[in-house]
Amino acid sequence: MASKLFATKSVEQIMASGSAEGEHGLRRTLTATNLVALGIGAIIGTGIFVLTGTAAANHAGPALTISFIVSGLGCLFAGLCYAEFAAMLPISGSAYSYSYATLGEFLAWIIGWDLILEYLFGASTVAVGWSGYMVSFLEGFGVHLPAALTSAPLVHDAQGWHTTGAFINLPAVLIVAVMTWLLVRGIRESASFNNIIVLVKLAVILLFIFFGLSYVDTANWFPYVPERVTEATGVGKYGWQGILAGAGVIFFAYIGFDAVSTAAQEARNPQRDMPKGILYSLLICTVLYVVTAAVMTGMVHYTELNVPAPIALAIDSAGGALAWLAPLIKVGALAGLSSVILVMLMGQPRIFFSMSRDGLLPPVFAKVHPRFKTPHITTLLTGTVAAVIAGLFPIGLLGELVSIGTLLAFVIVCVGIIVLRRTRPEMPRPFRTPWVPLVPVLGAAICLVQMAFLPPDTWLRLVIWMAIGIAIYFTYGRKHSHLTAGRDR
Ligand code: ALA
Repeated sequence: MASKLFATKSVEQIMASGSAEGEHGLRRTLTATNLVALGIGAIIGTGIFVLTGTAAANHAGPALTISFIVSGLGCLFAGLCYAEFAAMLPISGSAYSYSYATLGEFLAWIIGWDLILEYLFGASTVAVGWSGYMVSFLEGFGVHLPAALTSAPLVHDAQGWHTTGAFINLPAVLIVAVMTWLLVRGIRESASFNNIIVLVKLAVILLFIFFGLSYVDTANWFPYVPERVTEATGVGKYGWQGILAGAGVIFFAYIGFDAVSTAAQEARNPQRDMPKGILYSLLICTVLYVVTAAVMTGMVHYTELNVPAPIALAIDSAGGALAWLAPLIKVGALAGLSSVILVMLMGQPRIFFSMSRDGLLPPVFAKVHPRFKTPHITTLLTGTVAAVIAGLFPIGLLGELVSIGTLLAFVIVCVGIIVLRRTRPEMPRPFRTPWVPLVPVLGAAICLVQMAFLPPDTWLRLVIWMAIGIAIYFTYGRKHSHLTAGRDR
C-alpha cells in the first residue's frame, strides 16, 4: 500500500498528458511581458489595499516594512523553486503536478486539496476586500449601505464563534457571482484586458506613493519597532514577534506569483519565460509593497490603521489636499481586486481538471461546456462555494486560512526541488534554482516560520481541512487513480 501512496507520475508522463490537454484548446500566445502582467494582476490586491492596515495596527507597527521584506524573501526563494519547476514541467497543474512527479500521489493529492484554500478561499477573501472598498466608495457619494448587508454574519474571536447580527455580505457574494458568470460564458481574462487592469493598479499605487510622500510625518515612524504587548491577546503584538506575525498576515499580499505557473501551457516559450514571469512580477511587487508600507505608516499613525480601506484612510488624512485622489484610488482598487478574483476563480477549475484527469476526482470535474469551451461545472461549483464563504465570514479569518494553506504549498514545492535534483539529476533544467539546497531550505524555513506565527485557530482549521481531504483520498482517489490502476493517460 505504501508504494501506491508514494507512486510518482514520471516527468515524461506528466508532459505527455499536458500536451494532450494542449490539443484540446490551450493556445501558446503569452509573451514574457504578458506573463509578468499576469503575475502582477494576480498579486496586487487585498493584501496591499486592505490587510496592510491591520498588520501594522495589530502586529508590526511601522516595522511593517520589515515584515514585507521577510515575507518577500520567503516568496523569492519559493519563487526560484517554482521557476525551476515551471520551466521544466510547463503544464497547468502547477504545484499539484510538481508534487506528483516528485513526492508521490498522496502528497500530490494533499497539495491539490491544499490549493483549494489558496484559490477558492482566496477568491472569497478578495471578494470581502472588494466589498469593503465598494462600501467606502459609495459612502463617498453619500450612499450608505446597511451594515447588516455588508458584513460577515459569523465571526470567531476571544468569545468563540458567534453571530454579529449581520445578515450577509451581499457585495462580496455579488462580485463572485459576476466573475463566475463571466468565466462560464468563456470571457477568459484576455492578455490585453489584464494588461489594462494591471496598468490601472500600478498607476494607483504609484500615485499614492508619489503624492503621499509629501504628507509623511516622520514622527509616525517612531518607535520603529513598538515595544511588545504581552497581554493575553498580545501574542505577536509588536516587538520582533509582531514583525513575524505581520509577515504571516501580509504574506497574503504576495500570493499569486505562483498563478503564473498555471499559464505554462499558454506561454509561447515557457522554458525561457516562466522564470521571468514569476520572478519579475514578484520583484516589482516587493519593491512597491515596501515603499507603500513606508508611506502609509508615515502618513497615519499605525495605531489608527485598523480599517478596511487603509490606503483610502491615509489619503483622507492629508486633509482636502488629496481629496481628488481618493475616488481614483478606490476605483483602481475595485478594478484590481476584481481581476484577482477572476484569476483565482479561473485557476481553481484548472487544478480540479488536472486532478480529475488523473482519476483523483470524478470525471465530471474535467467536463468542458460544448459551446462555451469552459469547465462550466467546476467553475459554477467553485463560484457557488466561494460566494457562500465570502457572504458569511470576515476577511481576517479567511486571509489567514488562505495564507497558511499557500505557505504549506510553498514548503512542499521547495522540498520537491531538492527531491527531484536527487531522483532525476539528469533531467534538462532550462532554469536552475541557485544554491540548492540552501535556497529551497531557506524558502521552506521562512514559510514555516510565517506559518508558526499564524494563530492556533488557523492551524486547527488547516488540520481539519486536511483531515477531510485525506478522508476523501482514501474513500475515492486511491481507488480511482489512473496511475496506480496502470491507466495513466
Ligand atoms: N495577493 C493577492 C491579494 O493580495 C491574493 O489580493
